[in-house]
Amino acid sequence: MKLISEAITARADSPSKEFRRRDPLPGLSRFLTTERHRIHLVGVAGSGMSGLAGLLIELGHAVSGSDKVTTTETERLQRLGLRFHEQHLAEHADAADLVVFSSAIKDDNPILLIARSCGKPLFRRAEAVAAIMQTKRGIVIAGMHGKTTTSAMMAHVLREGGLHPSHYVGAEIPILGTNAYWNPRGEYFVAEGDESDGTLRCFHPEHALILNIEEEHLDFYPDLTAIEKVFAQMLDQTSGSVLYNVDDPNTARLCGKRKRAVSYGFSEQADYRGADVKLRNFGSSFLVCRRGKKLGEATLNVPGEHNVHNALGVIALASELSIPFDKIMASLRKFEHARRRFEIKYASDRFLLVDDYAHHPTEIRATLRTAKSIGRRRLVTMFQPHRFSRTKALCREFGSAFDDADRVVITDVYPASEPPIPGITGRTIVDEIVRHGHHGVTYQARLQSLHRDVGNMLEAGDLVLSLGAGNIHEQLEILAADLVVAEKLKAIVGEEGEVRLYEPLSNHTTLRVGGPAQFWVEPRTEQTFAELIRFCRDEHLPLFAIGRGSNLLVRDGGIRGVVVHPHGGDFEKIEVDGFEITAGAGVKLRQVAYAARTANLGGLEWMEGIPGTVGGGLRMNAGAMGTQTFENVTRIRFLDVEGNSHVKNRDELEVFYRRFPLLEKNFAISATFKGHPAERAEIDIRLRESQEKRRTTQPVAKSAGCIFKNPATIPAGKLVDELGLKNSRVGNARVSRVHGNFIVNDGDATAAEVLELIDDIKSVARKKRGIELETEVEIVGEPE
Ligand code: EPU
Repeated sequence: MKLISEAITARADSPSKEFRRRDPLPGLSRFLTTERHRIHLVGVAGSGMSGLAGLLIELGHAVSGSDKVTTTETERLQRLGLRFHEQHLAEHADAADLVVFSSAIKDDNPILLIARSCGKPLFRRAEAVAAIMQTKRGIVIAGMHGKTTTSAMMAHVLREGGLHPSHYVGAEIPILGTNAYWNPRGEYFVAEGDESDGTLRCFHPEHALILNIEEEHLDFYPDLTAIEKVFAQMLDQTSGSVLYNVDDPNTARLCGKRKRAVSYGFSEQADYRGADVKLRNFGSSFLVCRRGKKLGEATLNVPGEHNVHNALGVIALASELSIPFDKIMASLRKFEHARRRFEIKYASDRFLLVDDYAHHPTEIRATLRTAKSIGRRRLVTMFQPHRFSRTKALCREFGSAFDDADRVVITDVYPASEPPIPGITGRTIVDEIVRHGHHGVTYQARLQSLHRDVGNMLEAGDLVLSLGAGNIHEQLEILAADLVVAEKLKAIVGEEGEVRLYEPLSNHTTLRVGGPAQFWVEPRTEQTFAELIRFCRDEHLPLFAIGRGSNLLVRDGGIRGVVVHPHGGDFEKIEVDGFEITAGAGVKLRQVAYAARTANLGGLEWMEGIPGTVGGGLRMNAGAMGTQTFENVTRIRFLDVEGNSHVKNRDELEVFYRRFPLLEKNFAISATFKGHPAERAEIDIRLRESQEKRRTTQPVAKSAGCIFKNPATIPAGKLVDELGLKNSRVGNARVSRVHGNFIVNDGDATAAEVLELIDDIKSVARKKRGIELETEVEIVGEPE
């Protein structure tokens, strides 16, 4: 058979002949619904295209598809028979009787080029959907916002009403099973009409439900008039009723005067009117009246006033189709959300994580209003702008869309096949929000880091929302998965303990560099520390203990797993007993030195000069003023990898210069140091000597102490000095002018810069002096 192909030049302002024709697609309906063919879909991974692929497979065609990405949808379709190609190759057109393409596909796509040059039937997605609809009683749900939810609700109500509808909606709908479904038994076909590319004018439905009309997709349409023209054409082609939202002025103007127009909304004049709306946490109830007569009470289990509105449209249309009100109510009560429409990703007493597809300022406002009405303590929002053109066109409106959020983190624009527009980024929206007077907004250009920024600002009682039509939901999913673990960790450390997600380790190292700790945990007792060890072992989570971070270089990608910071509680205890001082792992060595002074114990003054904690000092056998930690230790208490505690005396321990192997796997709890009786004045002299030594030989800057171990032949600082490397730098990491074995952070130095500087020094020492320098600082974590 002969098919008339698409008019690729069709634009909103110059509709093609095919689009304008009464029967736009002669033969295509038959071709798609009663015959069997080989059909290739270009851009099959898109939400609309994958739905069409599903329909065509159910209709018995041999369907192939190409896309540069694979999704769970393409994988599901492959299981149903889709032949999927991860590349667009001209030969796919040769092997097909007909090619359908997505609006996201560019004109120079090799499949389109070849199909066009050899006259292969080539259709737009909407043309194919419209042609399939043509064989049924079509219902098109259209509008800028809410059409996926509303079409899903409509299909669900018709299905529950026993009408066996087919459907085609723009997202995966758990309650419907899939995003598209062909039911040969039923008469109706419910489809979400896409206004974004002008193809709404392909549809000739029996009934249309119009939700709202406003300026959108300004990459395609010159203005609102052009948008309304497309809606008007579809309505002209509608043979039955036009259901319309009377509360939306543009919609009311466009639809109000049409024959068989039926209005719905909250206004007095609405044919189907909602009143007495009561919003609850995740739903609502409201009264429905038809032309002034009460029909009854409706209950919805999807949140927000905008969904009450959507439901009124569905109630109106279903009633016009003679489905009894009680049946409609029963099915609405059961209706659950479409994916990514206020989808709850995690819920506990402390946190609620919700994902929503909102990407237009109006949708954002509605979603935030709904979120706020839930009544959690704070509303933390992350937003990924969708398309450069929309960001540019609506940036002012975006500026005022986030008023209901306490904190907002914006990431960069999701391009959706658009080329960038110079000067337009996520920051454009941040600037507008700031200009509008919001004080809680920040920018994170890297999408992959978004969950960290948001996770780190969480406080109990927060509702976290991810908003956008791109891939921001993946960030919320990562956050949700980590929050599950964080909550378990919190249950272990209890009220008094502390758990934070993605805590920047630059806040916990004296060098002030380092990426985040996936889970930052502060236990307060030995017992909870032991439980943490066991939990990490069972969950295969890496566990790393950190004290003051004074001898630590954390790479910029941070540390995966749990970073334990024994702090406060048991770990801050310090007891003097005779000549012995027992101090918890979290006690600063400096505090030990001063506790010894108070007890008139000498020999521990050198600890004054060490910025670390007891745990850290033990771990690396820290030293100063010619003394090392273990010279003063009499015994230590530690937890092994099973969480069992042990006490070991000094003579049972193997200790080296700046190295104590036992704590490479086990975890320090406390240490007992031995002093000797001394005069306070004597102690003070030695304390002053230590202070003086530090003041005169070491820099007062952000550093990790000495970077290198002293080689046997020469102190590392002296070597670096002799090599003339003082003050040399990589980025903001610099060798101290004061002491050659210190690298200082001059500003926002990165770990990568520090590491590069270390390598530079090592290679010069090797080349010029044949000395292999070994780092004293512990280098941990992952590169960015
Ligand atoms: N020197 C130079 N130029 C320099 C630095 C040092 O010529 O730029 C000379 C000094 O004049 C001295 C010798 O090198 O003759 C050793 O220097 P210093 O006395 O400063 O001691 P260090 O060996 O560099 C050690 C510890 C420090 C501790 C001090 C003070 C090591 C690797 N370092 O430094 O510990 O504070 O003694 O007691 O053992 C640390 O471990 O992080 C740390 C800072």
